[in-house]
Amino acid sequence: MATTVKSRLEAMAKKLRKYSQSHVLQFIDTLDSGGKIALLEELEGLDFELLNELIGRYVLESPEIELPKEILPAPVYPRVPSDELQGKYQKARDHGERMIAEHKVACFTVAGGMGTRLGFEGPKGDYPATPVRNKSLFRVFAESIIASEHRYNCEIPWYIMTSPANHADTVQSFKDHDYFGLNPANVMHFPQGMMPCFGKDGKILMEDKGHLAMSPDGHGGSLRALYKSGALQDMAQRGIEYISYFQVDNPLVYIVDPLFIGLHAMDTAEMSSKAVIKVDPLEKVGNFTVVDGKITVIEYSDLPEEVARKRSADGKLLIESGSIAIHLISRSFVERINQRGFSLPWHRAEKRVPYIDLEGERVVPDGPNAVKLETFVFDAVPLAERSIILAIDRDDQFAPIKNATGVDSVESSHRLQMNRHVKWLEAAGIDIPRKEDGSLNVKVEISPLFALEPEDLVRKKSQLRKLKPEDIVSLG
Ligand code: UTP
Repeated sequence: MATTVKSRLEAMAKKLRKYSQSHVLQFIDTLDSGGKIALLEELEGLDFELLNELIGRYVLESPEIELPKEILPAPVYPRVPSDELQGKYQKARDHGERMIAEHKVACFTVAGGMGTRLGFEGPKGDYPATPVRNKSLFRVFAESIIASEHRYNCEIPWYIMTSPANHADTVQSFKDHDYFGLNPANVMHFPQGMMPCFGKDGKILMEDKGHLAMSPDGHGGSLRALYKSGALQDMAQRGIEYISYFQVDNPLVYIVDPLFIGLHAMDTAEMSSKAVIKVDPLEKVGNFTVVDGKITVIEYSDLPEEVARKRSADGKLLIESGSIAIHLISRSFVERINQRGFSLPWHRAEKRVPYIDLEGERVVPDGPNAVKLETFVFDAVPLAERSIILAIDRDDQFAPIKNATGVDSVESSHRLQMNRHVKWLEAAGIDIPRKEDGSLNVKVEISPLFALEPEDLVRKKSQLRKLKPEDIVSLG
C-alpha cells in the first residue's frame, strides 16, 4: 500500500476514534487497494464535526419542534383576481411572458430522491406517467419546454438535479431518448449531496464492507448543489434570472408560468411559491404561514392540530394555503445565500435501511431501523427578503405520482390528468361521453405540444373531432 494511502488511513482511523465511528474501517483489510481508496474517499468527504453535532441533536434524540409564539396566515395572491387585482395580473402575465421570451427563465427539476414509495427500478423521471401513451415524466416536461420555446421563440435551459445513486442512469436515459427532442446543450444534469444513514445509536451504517450507507440530503440540498455544481454560473452566463423549480413527480406542472413569474418579478421577490387551498385541516402538505414577519412553511406534522383546525369568522380555515413544492427562485438569491454561507434546518426521518452488521452479515430489516437526515427546500423561503404566494387550482396543476397504489399514485394521477384535459376539451365546446354514474367513458391525453393551456384548444377547435363512447384519444 502506498505510504500516502497508509498515512491517510491512519489519520482517518484517529479521527474515527475521536468521533466513536471506528467500526466503519472494520473490514478495511478485506478490501483490495482500489476498495480501500474508495472507502477512504467516502470518509474524507464527510464533515465529522458537523455529523457529530447532528447525531447528538437529531439521531440520538427526536428533537421537540420549537413552535413560534405567533403563527399567522400568509398573504396569498388569489387564484381568481379581485377587481382591483385584475390589472396587476394582466401586467404580470405580460411581464412574465417578456421574461421568458428574453431567455431569462430556466427550468429546474429536482430528481435526486430515492422514490422508495413508488418502488420503480430506475430514475423516477423515466416512470410511465401519462394515461394513454404512457409517456415518461421526463418526456412530458421536455414536451412542455419545447412547446414553450416555440410559443415564446426562445430557449429555456433545463437543469436536472440527480443524486449519485441515479445520476448515471438519468443521463443515460436522456441519451437513449435523444434528449426527448431538446437541444443537449440546453440540458444540464448535476448530482446533489449525500448524507450517511445512521443507526438509532448514532453509528454510521455500512451498506457493504467497502461503502457507507448513504442517501440524498433532501431537496433542500438543491440550493447548495446549484451553486457547487456550476449550474448557477452557467445560468449567469446565459443571462438567466429566474429559476422555475418543480419536482419530478408532477406531470401537470406548468413548467414556466408567465403570471407566477411576472408577480414574482414585479414584487421583487426572491423565492416564491404556488399554493392550493387545503382540502382538510390536517392535509399532509406544508402550511403557508407568517412567523416573525416572514413567510414560512410549517410542515403538516409540525403544525399543532388546534392551530390547523382554527377557522376565521367566514368559516374558512385560518391557515388554508398548502404548499405543492412549486417555486420561483431568483438566481441572485441562490447566489447570495451561498456566498454568505447558509444552512437549512435538518429534519429527521426514520427509514428502513439494509446494512451489514459487525460480523459482516447483511441485515434487511422489516421496519425502520435507521435515521436519515434531510433538508427541505421550503425552509429557504424565510431567508428571502421578499416572497409571494400564488394560489392555483389544484385540479389544473397538481397530479403527483408518489405511491404505487392509492393516494398520489399513478392511478390517481391518470384520473387527474384526464380530468384536466376533459375540462379543456369541454371549454373548447367538445361533448364528453360519460357513463351513467357520471364517470368518463373516454380516455384522453393531450400533449403539451398540442396545448399548453385551455385557450390553445379553443384556437385549435377545427382540429378536434366529436368523441364517441369508449374513444381513446391522444392529441399531439
Ligand atoms: P419526495 O419527498 O417525494 O421523496 O421528493 P422521494 O425520495 O422522491 O420519494 P420517497 O420518499 O423515497 O418515496 C419530492 C421531490 O424532491 C426530490 C424528489 O426527486 C422529488 O422530485 N428530492 C427528494 C430530491 O431531489 N432529493 C432528495 O434528497 C429528496
